Parts: sequence; structure tokens; C-alpha cells
Amino acid sequence: MCGIVAYVGHRQAYPIILKGLKRLEYRGYDSAGIALLNGGLNVYKKRGKVADLENHLADESLNSTIGIGHTRWATHGEPNDINAHPHYSSDEKLAIIHNGIIENYASLKKELEDRGHVFRSQTDSEVFIHFIEDIYNNNDIELEEAVRIALSKVIGAYAIVIMDSSEPDKLIAARKGSPMVFGIGENEFFIASDATPIIEYTNKVVYLNDYEIVVVKGGEFSIKSIENEVMTPYIHELDLKLESIEKGGFDHFMLKEIYEQPRSIADCLRGRLVSSQGHLVLGGLIEHMNKIVNADRIMIVACGTSWHAGLVAEYVIEELTRIPVEVEYASEFRYRNPIIRENDVVIAISQSGETADTLAAIELAKSKGAFIFGVCNVVGSSIARATHAGAYTHAGPEIGVASTKAFTAQVTVLTMMALMIAEKRGTISASTFHAILADLESIPQKVERALKLDGQIKAIAEMVASSNNALYLGRGYNFPVALEGALKLKEISYIHAEGYPAAEMKHGPIALIDEEMPVFVIATHDSGYEKIVSNIQEVKARKGKVIAVVTEGDTLVQSMADYTIQVPDTNEILMPLVSVIPLQLLSYHVAVIRGCNVDQPRNLAKSVTVE
Ligand code: AGP
Repeated sequence: MCGIVAYVGHRQAYPIILKGLKRLEYRGYDSAGIALLNGGLNVYKKRGKVADLENHLADESLNSTIGIGHTRWATHGEPNDINAHPHYSSDEKLAIIHNGIIENYASLKKELEDRGHVFRSQTDSEVFIHFIEDIYNNNDIELEEAVRIALSKVIGAYAIVIMDSSEPDKLIAARKGSPMVFGIGENEFFIASDATPIIEYTNKVVYLNDYEIVVVKGGEFSIKSIENEVMTPYIHELDLKLESIEKGGFDHFMLKEIYEQPRSIADCLRGRLVSSQGHLVLGGLIEHMNKIVNADRIMIVACGTSWHAGLVAEYVIEELTRIPVEVEYASEFRYRNPIIRENDVVIAISQSGETADTLAAIELAKSKGAFIFGVCNVVGSSIARATHAGAYTHAGPEIGVASTKAFTAQVTVLTMMALMIAEKRGTISASTFHAILADLESIPQKVERALKLDGQIKAIAEMVASSNNALYLGRGYNFPVALEGALKLKEISYIHAEGYPAAEMKHGPIALIDEEMPVFVIATHDSGYEKIVSNIQEVKARKGKVIAVVTEGDTLVQSMADYTIQVPDTNEILMPLVSVIPLQLLSYHVAVIRGCNVDQPRNLAKSVTVE
């Protein structure tokens, strides 16, 4: 996701927009830009943070009472000066800022190029403004009508603001699927991705709805639907504090990111999976499909939570494709002189794309001739650039040190990869392929339902917050989730927690069980259910306190465990995407109860860029 800010009114636009972009940097920060009407329509943009743009503009004359600004989280096109927003139309009379993804931009771009349009950047957003310009220049209509027609033809998500050099008191804005707040001041108007850039100037805001278009002109504004119906706006009077708005009203970024997962998983699937059409395409995989389909072995290198996503992938990829998979800690892989053969494929997983150990593992594998496929969240990151191909997770910036939405996005991408490979190798039937596709498409709704367990989980957190140790048990696809749940708890609440394969308990950990030891067991309905029920009985026989994550409607475990958390059922290979949610929430609430710094836990960094 990106940050957008626009202003028109009686004040200087530049300082308002610049400060607003700084407030939105948590939404994206790989490049930034501003367009102003100061002796013509001028666009100033640059790779890097908003402060870099500010330094770049230190000597410019920036007098303008209208402007648009953007801080980017790249989705199409590397982070660089050219791909930064705002983007010009061909004639440089229009400028656009855009937060979102235009899924049909490639076909629109081809049509426009055939009509003589020349593009400077690799972005979908530049195609957007050229498309609007093409409609505007070829019809005798107002610009806002051209925008409305264009919006009816684009597919995807957008929050856009457009400026016209010939109308210095007009802004046109529209949204679908990406947030937009419209601020109403005294003879001045503000548009932004959230209220943080607006709140110090006015507390009167309209939260635009999908398919709504706002036109500001001559100190007046109107809001219409994409069908041209005049809308009556509801004007909120905000009483929120600035800092809380940046977190979307949540107390911490981590909680906000946990709650973003229905959207971030949907964004990860967007344009890639359409189960009704049996459509599944990961762009970065297609051109290298043969290499991966014919791999003798897949090696996964990652660290921390990304390593846990890799472990889920091992189970999924082997089950569906029958290709042997090994998961390696990047820090071990890079030093143990691994045997890598030319038909091996390495998958590197990293949210930040900057983890030193993972980067080093990639370089080692490359030096031994392996093909490297990256799964990253930060576009243009070092790991994204170091791999031969890759797929982005599109989870948006993850600010909390404890990784949550990146994990579920990684598992989503890796599951789509496994399905594409399996379909190509013919190792799953068409009916299985389509069934899993449909189940995967319904995951955002199931995660939404799991989030509704928050109140119950908070109550359970109260009961375990004073513990000094905890054990997490899982089997099969839920074993990596047990590891992930333990990591979440230990890294933000500082409680010593360990994850184990449930069956492994009798080989040692069972000695730890007593009434002081909370044991979290992921016991959802799957092929290992009967076995894990036995493990729960073993724990209970030693007076352990069992908190079980179960499938909705489970009564058997409910009769044994001290507490049960019921999550929606899904295909067992997708269960990690749902069963992890209660464990994320539990770790969050325990950390808050213990007064820990949830977003910046002690000794930890968001990205470990050193050994
Ligand atoms: C997870 O909550 C931790 N923040 C940490 O283990 C993290 O997953 C690990 O450092 C890997 O980071 P990356 O995904 O950015 O490479």
C-alpha cells in the first residue's frame, strides 16, 4: 500500500503535503513525490524516504496553493525516480497519484501504445493517467467525466487524485478498495489515505466509499457515484489523537497488522487466483515453470517466521508435487558447505528482503549453480533483486517487529506455487486442484471469523500472562504453526516458549509438564486428529493446563482441554493460515498484559541486516 496526500485551498500546499507524507510513511517508503502548480504543472519525485525528497527540493521555488503527493510501496516497477509518483499524462497537463493495483493495466497499456502513447515508467499508475487523458482528449467532456468513464473500465483497487494544469482550483479523487479520507476545512480541502495528514487542519472528514468520486472546484465540492448519482456525504467530526490514527485506531501496529490479514491475504491473491475460472497464475513463476517443475529437489532458506512459512511449504509442496523439499536455516546453510546440484531449486523467503543470512545463503546457492526463487514483501529489496525470479507477497508494510501478516502472505504465495507446480506435473487431480483453489479463495473470510475470537483469547491471555514457560504442540501442517506460535510469544512477552511436534513430547518435553506449564495444542480436524487427542490426554494425565485450538463444533477436545478456541474448518493444507490467528492474538495480549513493548520488543530489530 502507498500513502497519498492532496491539498487545495488558501495556504501553501507544499508544507502541508510534505508533512502529510511523513505521517503516512508507515504505509510505504521506497520513493516519494509531489506535483505542484507553480508556473506550470511540475512533478518532483525521488527514490528514497520523504526526507530525501525534502532535501532534493530545498532550493526549489514551490509556491502553489494546490498539490498532490505520494509515498510509495512499490507493486509494479522497481523503486526508482522514474517509477515514483506522481505520474504525468502524455501532454504533461495532468498528473496522478495512485494507491492500489490496476489488474488489467497490461491490456490497457497495449491499447494505448497502439494509439501512440509512450510510457516513461513501468507502473500501472502511469497507464491509468494516460487512459484518462485518452478518453478526455477524444471526447468533448469534462475531465471528471473522463475519469468516471475510465474508472468503469479498470479492474483492481485504487485511491487516486488527479490534478489538471488548466484548472488550478480543481482536484478529482476516487477510490475503490484502497482507503481515502476527504477533509473539509475553511475554504480548503484535503485528501489523504487516512486522517493523519488532515487532523491538525480540520476534524471534519468524509470517509469516501468504494466507487465514489469527489470533485473539488472553485472552493466547492461534490461527491458522485461511478454511476453519476449525486451522493450526500456523511461528515464525521474526528476526536482521535494523531498517533492513534496512524495505527488505524489500534493500540499497536502489530494488532493492526493482525487485523489486516483478511485484506493482505486478499491482496496476495488479487489478480493471481480466480477459482471460478480455475485461474491461478504467479507471474514470476510462469517463465521459469519448467525449471521448477523438473527440479530434483527444492531447498528453502529463510530465518525466523519466514523459516516457519518455509516449513509449512515443505509439507504442502511435497504433498502436492511429490518433489523432495528441505528447509534450512539460512544461517546454517551458508556455512555448512551444502551439496547443491544444478537441478536443485532454492526458494528464499524474506519479509524485509534484507536479512543478511538469507542474502548470503542465496549468493552461496547461486555460486553453486542453483536456480533461486524469492518470496519477498518489500519490492526492490536486496533479496528480491538477488534472486533469478520471485513473487511478492503484497502484504503492505509490516511495521511491528513480530511478523504476522507477512507470515500468512508467505504461506499463501507458497501454496499457490505448490498448486501451480502440481497441476503442471499432474500430481494432483483437476478436482483436487479446483477444490483447494476454492478453499484458498475463501481464506480471507475464515481469517475474518477467526479474528472475532479476540475477546475470548484476551481472557485466556489473562490466565497465562504470569507463566514463565509455555509449550506449543502441533502435528503435520500445524507443527510449523506450533513453532510460530512459540516464537510470537517469546519474542514479544519474553516468556520462554517452545514449539514441538506433538508426538515428540514423550521423547523429553513431557518431563516439563506440570500444573504451572500452559500447553497450547493445535488440534484441528485433520489426518492426525486422533493422535493429537492422545497427546492432549498425556498432558492432562500430568496435570498440564491445555489450551487447544480446535475446529468449530469440536466437542471431544472440548471435553478434555482446560480451554478451547474454535476456528473455522478448511482444507488441512490451508489450516496454518487460520490456526495461526489465535496464537498471534494470544501473544499480543500476553505481551500487553506484561507491559512489554509490543511493536519494538527488547533486543530485536525488524530486519536483521547483520550476521
Ligand atoms: C519474526 O516475528 C521475527 N521478527 C523474525 O524472526 C523474522 O521473521 C526474521 O528475522 C526473518 O526476517 P525476514 O522475513 O525479513 O527475512
